[in-house]
Amino acid sequence: MAASNFKLLLSLFILSISISSTTSNNNDGFLQCFFSKVHHSNPIDNVIFTKNSSFYTSLLQSSIRNLRFSSSTSAPKPEFIITPYHESHVQATVICGTKNSMQVRVRSGGHDYEGLSYVADVPFIIIDLVNLRSITVDIDSESAWVEAGAILGELYYKIAEKSSVHGFPAGSCPTVGVGGHISGGGFGTIFRKYGLAADNILDAKLVNVNGKVLDRVSMGEDLFWAIRGGGGLSFGVILSWRIRLVPVPPSVTVFNIGKTLEQGAGELLQKWQTVGSELHEDLFLHAVIEVAKTSSNGENKTIKISFFSLFLGPAEKLVPLMQESLPGLGLELSNCTEMSWIESVLYFAGFSIKEPMDILLNRTENFSGYFKAKSDYVKEPISESGLEGVWKTLLEDETSLLILTPYGGKMSEIGDSETPFPHRCGNLYKIQYLSSWYAENETEEHIGWMRRLYDYMEPHVSKSPRAAYFNYRDLDLGTNIDTNSTGYEQASKWGLKYFKHNFKRLVAVKTRVDPHNFFRNEQSIPSLPS
Ligand SMILES: Cc1cc2nc3c(=O)[nH]c(=O)nc-3n(C[C@H](O)[C@H](O)[C@H](O)COP(=O)(O)OP(=O)(O)OC[C@H]3O[C@@H](n4cnc5c(N)ncnc54)[C@H](O)[C@@H]3O)c2cc1C
Ligand SMILES: *[C@@H]1O[C@H](CO)[C@@H](O)[C@H](O)[C@H]1NC(C)=O
Ligand SMILES: *[C@@H]1O[C@H](CO)[C@@H](O)[C@H](O)[C@H]1NC(C)=O
Ligand SMILES: *[C@@H]1O[C@H](CO)[C@@H](O)[C@H](O)[C@H]1NC(C)=O
Ligand SMILES: *[C@@H]1O[C@H](CO)[C@@H](O)[C@H](O)[C@H]1NC(C)=O
Ligand SMILES: *[C@@H]1O[C@H](CO)[C@@H](O)[C@H](O)[C@H]1NC(C)=O
Ligand SMILES: *[C@@H]1O[C@H](CO)[C@@H](O)[C@H](O)[C@H]1NC(C)=O
Ligand SMILES: *[C@@H]1O[C@H](CO)[C@@H](O)[C@H](O)[C@H]1NC(C)=O
Repeated sequence: MAASNFKLLLSLFILSISISSTTSNNNDGFLQCFFSKVHHSNPIDNVIFTKNSSFYTSLLQSSIRNLRFSSSTSAPKPEFIITPYHESHVQATVICGTKNSMQVRVRSGGHDYEGLSYVADVPFIIIDLVNLRSITVDIDSESAWVEAGAILGELYYKIAEKSSVHGFPAGSCPTVGVGGHISGGGFGTIFRKYGLAADNILDAKLVNVNGKVLDRVSMGEDLFWAIRGGGGLSFGVILSWRIRLVPVPPSVTVFNIGKTLEQGAGELLQKWQTVGSELHEDLFLHAVIEVAKTSSNGENKTIKISFFSLFLGPAEKLVPLMQESLPGLGLELSNCTEMSWIESVLYFAGFSIKEPMDILLNRTENFSGYFKAKSDYVKEPISESGLEGVWKTLLEDETSLLILTPYGGKMSEIGDSETPFPHRCGNLYKIQYLSSWYAENETEEHIGWMRRLYDYMEPHVSKSPRAAYFNYRDLDLGTNIDTNSTGYEQASKWGLKYFKHNFKRLVAVKTRVDPHNFFRNEQSIPSLPS
């Protein structure tokens, strides 16, 4: 579109809004501020969408991963969605947002378990970073600059394009966004060797509450520490990360062996609980526990445990390792498949390794249902009778899963204050509880079930605090809103579970960099009154 036409359209647009808007003066104020800041320097075609824009709804829906938060009636909608093409668009949104007291939610991949990147109870704006997703891989320096709106699949794809012996230790779901994922920790199949995604960050760019673009040097080590595990949103808008690439062998090995209780899964899991975190750091072996039907009419059910493994080496080295540590699994060479690391990315994403690699670039999540999740850390093996109670509870909700991920290896070597992510040495494994369903009227039933299971687990998991993984956000742990206690007391309910002793330092950083608490949501780090 020619610039002059565009300006004309723009003024008509502003006019129509100022005439028709009944919602609030803040909206008008925001728009006028936004347009005055950006249209001279960088074009804003397709950057801001109001509720009347024809793309508004599809854009809003585009990265909603959990139907609990997309219902057309119940979920509050943003006043505007802004999709920056340039950092100046982010700067303008933050500056105009602060001037007009508009709350800003930032969305990268949209995978937040409680929808906090696109739902709020107050008038708000979404900054959706879908257009800020360039990735520059530099094999010589074994690093890459990754914009926050890129998804993990794009990152893995771009690395594999340049090298078959480099990877990055982040999550296994390709549609997860690097903005949320890395700022909250981020683990995947090679985290026992290399730590979290957040442990492999060399630099970052962020827009702070004053609209300034900062890098590692200008933000200082305290803020740089906070955004590598403490969540991004509390501190600013992360524009990009500079990541450290890690070496992977030309060929890795995977297997998946499932056993039912009748086939000895219970005894295997008993043993796995103690050996999982002691395994060689090249070996990842997680256990997925679910309900399996044993008769075709679905009448008879049992528990099935699947052991999924990725080994950074050849099958002939893996088999003896497994025979030594978990002989009951009966692993043989014929159960193993060797493949490239990027093929293992497809494999753990649930694709066939024969699929073309560019399937990783697809931002559309295949799952389209409702879900609720929670997490726990386990420090002592759960007793046999404790596990029997788990089987019994699981059988009450057939659509549920437990994913048990062993810790140890590199995770035990990194100090628990090096980043805000505190779950390091002393953890045997993490549990993720996941329930999913497809009909809205089942929501209460499944969430109720999950809360019962969580109550049941209390004596068997970490205590004081009962720890949880920030990236598996769970508002049941507490929110910042709606009580009489001070912000700090209220927030420490969930804050100590996610961050333990690091919570205090996160609050100190927040108080310094965003004293008026502009960047906030139901579980953002509070700033203390001065
Ligand atoms: C299907 C699925 C699979 C998953 N698999 C894994 C896994 O293997 N390993 C793992 O560790 N986790 C996993 N997760 C959890 C995932 O890491 C978190 O949900 C993560 O926060 C998602 O990031 P996002 O950018 O996609 O989400 P978003 O919803 O966009 O953001 C999440 C949070 O981060 C904030 N945020 C996002 N971008 C920015 C930014 N640029 N600047 C500041 N704040 C920002 C948002 O406001 C929000 O509060 C999975 C989640 C799902 C739904
Ligand atoms: C959208 O259009 C409707 C109907 O034309 C109007 O009432 C409303 O104020 C408009 N909203 C905005 C934000 O322009
Ligand atoms: C492992 O391999 C053996 C021998 O080929 C086979 O009998 C067994 O079914 C395999 N197990 C799995 C889970 O594939
Ligand atoms: C279910 O299990 C019972 C008890 O073991 C058995 O008698 C019955 O035949 C099974 N039903 C089916 C359909 O397999
Ligand atoms: C992307 O993935 C979705 C969900 O699996 C699928 O429906 C769609 O066809 C895919 N798009 C492309 C271009 O492959
Ligand atoms: C996508 O979902 C459909 C329906 O649930 C399922 O049959 C299919 O296997 C899924 N595809 C992938 C790649 O997960
Ligand atoms: C939910 O709705 C469906 C279809 O309307 C109905 O068949 C089902 O019984 C309902 N389930 C519950 C738990 O109410
Ligand atoms: C908050 O305090 C007021 C006054 O002390 C009291 O009436 C009210 O019940 C309290 N609310 C909650 C949620 O505790």
